[in-house]
Amino acid sequence: MLAAVTTVSILCFLIGAGESRHITYPTAEAGDELVSVVVMYRHGDRSPIASFQNDPYYDSSYWPEGYGQLLSKGVLRHYNLGKWLRNRYGSFLPAEYSPKHIQVYSTDVDRTLMSAQANLAGLYTPVDSHIWEEGFLWEPVPIHRLALDDPVLAMNSACPKQGVLEGEVKQSDFYQTLSKDNSDLFKTLSEYTGMSVGMGTISIVYDVIYVYRNHNESFVPSWVEDVDMEQVNYLASMAFAKSIYTDELKRLKTGPFYNYLINYFSDVISGDSDVAKFLMLSAHDSTISYVLGGMGAFDFQPPEFASSVIWELRKNTDGHYINVLYKRNSTDTYDDIKVYECSLDCAFDDFKLNMAGVSVDPETWHEECQINSY
Ligand SMILES: *[C@@H]1O[C@H](CO)[C@@H](O)[C@H](O)[C@H]1NC(C)=O
Ligand SMILES: *[C@@H]1O[C@H](CO)[C@@H](O)[C@H](O)[C@H]1NC(C)=O
Repeated sequence: MLAAVTTVSILCFLIGAGESRHITYPTAEAGDELVSVVVMYRHGDRSPIASFQNDPYYDSSYWPEGYGQLLSKGVLRHYNLGKWLRNRYGSFLPAEYSPKHIQVYSTDVDRTLMSAQANLAGLYTPVDSHIWEEGFLWEPVPIHRLALDDPVLAMNSACPKQGVLEGEVKQSDFYQTLSKDNSDLFKTLSEYTGMSVGMGTISIVYDVIYVYRNHNESFVPSWVEDVDMEQVNYLASMAFAKSIYTDELKRLKTGPFYNYLINYFSDVISGDSDVAKFLMLSAHDSTISYVLGGMGAFDFQPPEFASSVIWELRKNTDGHYINVLYKRNSTDTYDDIKVYECSLDCAFDDFKLNMAGVSVDPETWHEECQINSY
């Protein structure tokens, strides 16, 4: 399998998603086994983080939890995702919690930490000696907090070169043309919202409407019916797409993560007994977009609440192979992700080859992030 990653800055519009499926594992044939699972998800439903001037509901009286906080619906959504994971991986992940089986990491943000807690409550129902209070079927599971500027998960670390390259994307013909072609839509939205809407701010409009739609339909402004929301979603996704638009950006944004992922799977394969074989990562819509983008599979749709990317390492008589799934929403359906040239059942060595231009160790990454490091 040829590595599709080149250093040429091409604009890649390949949609990596394949067919939608909704089977439940294990469907494994004899001699085929699941070896390791990495799940990265977005937090659940939250209150708004920002809004536009003409929004009567961006008022703290409507959001007693505070802005940007996980809502009850978000707790339930993640609890259900935890149950979905238990259903899918029941024969792989033992029902009794042990740090030898699972490691959980979260960004240092209330809503991701809380989402992980809710998810784990769905994943683990204590039995026998794990029950510490009769009738209260919850048990604590540790969640490791990563620093806000952690390059592996939060992907927010200072990387000056990333800023320069994103600036170039904004100046590109593609981006400028997109901006011009949608000037009528921006004008309309600016009138409705009382905020100057353009390429840089349309994601705020998208986000508020998405949040309200999930929270209380009556919060959604009536003018939404007059607006092409599919186009709004697409344009809002540019807030993420611009960070992974070229091969170099993909590498700077997601290289340390893929380096970590590949090392992790390699450790599992080499039989390092200290490695828990189930890794859970609680993160954000940006993170989900970036890791999809890193695999050449971002679909220009902002990720939904509790959407998940799942990497499954499996083994058969031919060796280790990887399947990548994207569970976009809270239905049972998910899509198979094509990693550049590699579809479902991608040999681990081919996965590494395809990701070779993206994956980068933290030290090299740090050097490449410097502005004068061409
Ligand atoms: C939705 O919001 C409206 C208007 O504020 C309110 O009357 C209604 O009770 C809310 N519905 C729910 C389910 O919270
Ligand atoms: C959920 O995602 C699947 C694709 O994975 C899509 O086919 C389906 O329409 C989505 N459902 C909802 C309710 O958005």
